[in-house]
Amino acid sequence: MSEPTEFDDRALSLALSRVTEQAAIAAADYIGRGDERAADTAAVDAMHRELSRLDIQGTIVVGEGAEGDAPKLYQGEVVGALSCPEVDIAADALEGVTLTAKDSRNAMSVICIAPRGSLMQVPEVYMDKLAIGPGYPAGTVSLDMSPAERVQALAAAKGCAPRDIVVSMLERPRHMPMLDELRQTGASVRLLSDGDVAGVLNVAEPDLTGIDMFMGAGGALEGVLAAAALKCLDGQFYGRLLARNDDERVRAASAGFRDLSRIYSRDDLVSDHVIFAATGVTGNAMIHGIRRSPTHITTETLLMRTRTGSVRRMSYRFPRS
Ligand code: FBP
Repeated sequence: MSEPTEFDDRALSLALSRVTEQAAIAAADYIGRGDERAADTAAVDAMHRELSRLDIQGTIVVGEGAEGDAPKLYQGEVVGALSCPEVDIAADALEGVTLTAKDSRNAMSVICIAPRGSLMQVPEVYMDKLAIGPGYPAGTVSLDMSPAERVQALAAAKGCAPRDIVVSMLERPRHMPMLDELRQTGASVRLLSDGDVAGVLNVAEPDLTGIDMFMGAGGALEGVLAAAALKCLDGQFYGRLLARNDDERVRAASAGFRDLSRIYSRDDLVSDHVIFAATGVTGNAMIHGIRRSPTHITTETLLMRTRTGSVRRMSYRFPRS
């Protein structure tokens, strides 16, 4: 049989769901057991194993860390069973290791795949993020607006009062001034202990999640995954890299990012068609977490691709060994 040479997202998408399913199932043994490292290792091992079975030559563009720091799924690692098609991969085998260890909502296994060269290889620094769901004109909110201006602009576009807007952000000391300013507007703020990929994803379905907008600084690597998710769901995402000290400035510069004032749009971060898969580990309003009965494990996976705009929610039941 000849090797596929093109990014056949139709064939690859269903295969991709197995990758996050298996990583989530591997992490599930550690839900609520207080061992972040074991949960992460199990998820990474399972994702790595499943990726090696995919008919791709995939380069990890966003992964578990730099080569030498992470044993598997490190940036630059080539995975897959074939020498083509060449694809970029952004993956977080377990997004929310602490959430998993504490059995708190929002932990997921996430991955996206796109043609080679189309996922931005961001450095391991923070990214200031801003996201809203579908249905608003481009530029309704921007990172150059103050948090209060963003609430007012979104309220005007939505046709409601600022106090009817719900914003989500990570609960961190660095966000206290932003939180104070948001509270002044009357907006409601949902604070997350971790997991900003899920935080961003939530804005895509405000009727389900109650969240209108996500903002604040989190990992830049997670920003690429969040941008891919919103590209599939037609939401808006903006990110600006943040260096907190000289070390991070050097890290960003050596990765080719010298202008830290630049704002990246969703399509800068993910510049071509993409497939996105997320399997819930501890779950949230958009994706169920792992459910266990004495005999079976059941997962739910959100599987989406931009080429068709398709969004699948797939339930998978597997006998427990
Ligand atoms: P991990 O799963 O790697 O622990 O990441 C969790 C997370 O909350 C991300 O969702 C977020 O981008 C990042 O950590 C925020 O970093 P910090 O905890 O340093 O604020």
